[in-house]
Amino acid sequence: MPLSHMDNTPPKFKPEKSPYNHNRFKWHIAKLTFWSFMFLGLILVFFIQSPSATSSSSSTSSDLTRRSLKTSSWGGPVWEKRVKSSARIRSRNGFSVLVTGAAGFVGTHVSVALKRRGDGVLGLDNFNDYYDPSLKRSRQALLERSGIFIVEGDINDDALLKKLFELIPFTHVMHLAAQAGVRYAMENPSSYVHSNIAGFVNLLEICKTANPQPAIVWASSSSVYGLNTKSPFSEKDRTDQPASLYAATKKAGEEIAHTYNHIYGLSLTGLRFFTVYGPWGRPDMAYFFFTRDILKGKAIPIFEAANHGTVARDFTYIDDIVKGCLGALDTAEKSTGSGGKKRGPAQLRVFNLGNTSPVPVSDLVGILERLLKVKARRMVTKLPRNGDVPFTHANISLARREFGYRPTTDLQTGLKKFVRWYVSYYGTGKKSDQ
Ligand SMILES: NC(=O)c1ccc[n+]([C@@H]2O[C@H](COP(=O)([O-])OP(=O)(O)OC[C@H]3O[C@@H](n4cnc5c(N)ncnc54)[C@H](O)[C@@H]3O)[C@@H](O)[C@H]2O)c1
Repeated sequence: MPLSHMDNTPPKFKPEKSPYNHNRFKWHIAKLTFWSFMFLGLILVFFIQSPSATSSSSSTSSDLTRRSLKTSSWGGPVWEKRVKSSARIRSRNGFSVLVTGAAGFVGTHVSVALKRRGDGVLGLDNFNDYYDPSLKRSRQALLERSGIFIVEGDINDDALLKKLFELIPFTHVMHLAAQAGVRYAMENPSSYVHSNIAGFVNLLEICKTANPQPAIVWASSSSVYGLNTKSPFSEKDRTDQPASLYAATKKAGEEIAHTYNHIYGLSLTGLRFFTVYGPWGRPDMAYFFFTRDILKGKAIPIFEAANHGTVARDFTYIDDIVKGCLGALDTAEKSTGSGGKKRGPAQLRVFNLGNTSPVPVSDLVGILERLLKVKARRMVTKLPRNGDVPFTHANISLARREFGYRPTTDLQTGLKKFVRWYVSYYGTGKKSDQ
């Protein structure tokens, strides 16, 4: 062991005199400088290429979260201008509404209706590929033509949500973003937890601290009635027997809504939609893929309940649902909290939005056959136990009393409009392969 490490006297530094050592020293300095530049260069390249570098967010941890959520870049003056212009209120006493899931089926229709009457509307959607994202892009183009901007991002991205609330004092949030679909829950359960539970909580966390706190109207589902057999389904009926993970996450949403209302004074209205259909609809829903498969000459499964029972649905036309959403927004009272604290009791509501006339699925196929002028190849199959329930039937008296909800479109009329849209969008016959 060298002596210098054994005693406390510092070793003396002797300058090296030899020219050989001097050159070696210079060579080390040059090497060190070269690697330092390389290191700095790499850091620079990383920051230039990182999407967060172009956004206005400053928090590194939230930037990392955002990257892991795979949301595209946001922020910057042009982006902010688009956000503000889209959310600008154009009518007296109008609202400024953040519509989550705006590129979705219901979100698109609700956004257009709000914009049309002069409300400010800003969309938010993550454009996930649960079903063909090109349909979501077409809906986005439709909204853009009405002056509605959809921010591309995830409701779990709290830095993004904070930024949006910093830019716009939203009076309302119309929360429609969710992982929908009953059967897909067996394939990808975590997507339901991500969007319907974690995402909802994240959104409510942001709303609770926003100043002013917005009033929130959000989509629950008729599926919360699960194995309930009492018909028609009333809001007072039990909802503690969900038949699918999707239903369970919607039920969880209703309980989460109760908590945020109770603790933070958020005004919350849950809407239990009953099988919504119409133009720009969702390709994973029976009326949609039946249309596609009938046109293709492909067999379609017609489910049968136990003991050859009929499977029926309370199909509700999209325009009626939109009226219900607007009615709920218009009668939503203000949230009562501020600074993350409750200042008084706030409104908490749940409504059924259905059509009140269930139709057997075989009748739906009959209507489609007439409209498409093609005979369907029916394949009668037992209803699998993967989350679907044999029937749904809404009692809508509460929504009627509270905001005059009165559905006016029967299945025949609504499907006619859907088929007209379908054919204009996809074409007919074998070309319609979407
Ligand atoms: N259509 C129906 O029959 C029906 C019935 C009952 C309830 N609902 C509920 O109504 C709402 C709208 O349904 P829809 O039929 O328009 O479905 P949709 O799938 O067409 O729309 C939902 C949209 O939310 C987006 N989204 C999903 N997760 C997101 C996330 N984490 N962050 C940001 N965006 C996200 C999707 O990309 C999609 O565009 C959903 O909450 C759904 O559960 C619909």
